[in-house]
Amino acid sequence: MADQKATNITWHETTVTVEDREQLLNQRGCVVWFTGLSGSGKSTLANAVAHLLHERKHHTYVLDGDNVRHGLNKNLGFSPADREENIRRVGEVARLFVDAGTIVMTAFISPYRADRDQARELINENRFVEVYVECPLDVCEERDPKGLYKKARSGEIKEFTGISAPYEAPDKPEVLVNTAELNIYESAQKVISCLEKTNLVPSDR
Ligand code: ADX
Repeated sequence: MADQKATNITWHETTVTVEDREQLLNQRGCVVWFTGLSGSGKSTLANAVAHLLHERKHHTYVLDGDNVRHGLNKNLGFSPADREENIRRVGEVARLFVDAGTIVMTAFISPYRADRDQARELINENRFVEVYVECPLDVCEERDPKGLYKKARSGEIKEFTGISAPYEAPDKPEVLVNTAELNIYESAQKVISCLEKTNLVPSDR
């Protein structure tokens, strides 16, 4: 948990409210939080879901680990403390997107249960959908799209998730998608079905 450093700051209510924005956009803002090993398919799946929702005329945005680490979080590495701070900031950014009325997909390994739970707490419980992108380590390693598992095995990359750093799988994710068994379309449909069931998006439009 980051400490509050600044003093003499006042919260300002906005004139246009989240309800106003959601009415204009004709949707509810929410977070679809993808978690899983590197190479499990988080980004691919997040983008597939965003694409399907976009086709249904929803406003979406994908926050992706590799991308956010190029900018906002470029000063963070992969130590446990840096990963915690990475996820804390992503939770805060996701909250802003929800406040803007957007359906935001976050694709981060987010290996620690406590950090994901903190993000869930930050965002209204009813607007947080955790998707466990499950894929056996050996399959991720076989895919190795960025060649990172090879480097982790040789010791060139330290603290690599699944090899030399932990991954804590979710206990009760809203959705569990096994990308070693389902194709990308089936996986995306499973996420969309959950959003429909929880009334975050209407069944068809
Ligand atoms: S997280 O653990 O803090 O949630 P995040 O999703 O932002 O990680 O970034 C993970 C991506 O960074 C991986 O997909 C991979 O491309 C890259 N990466 C580089 N070094 C590591 C490492 N030591 N462990 C995991 N991923 C790493």
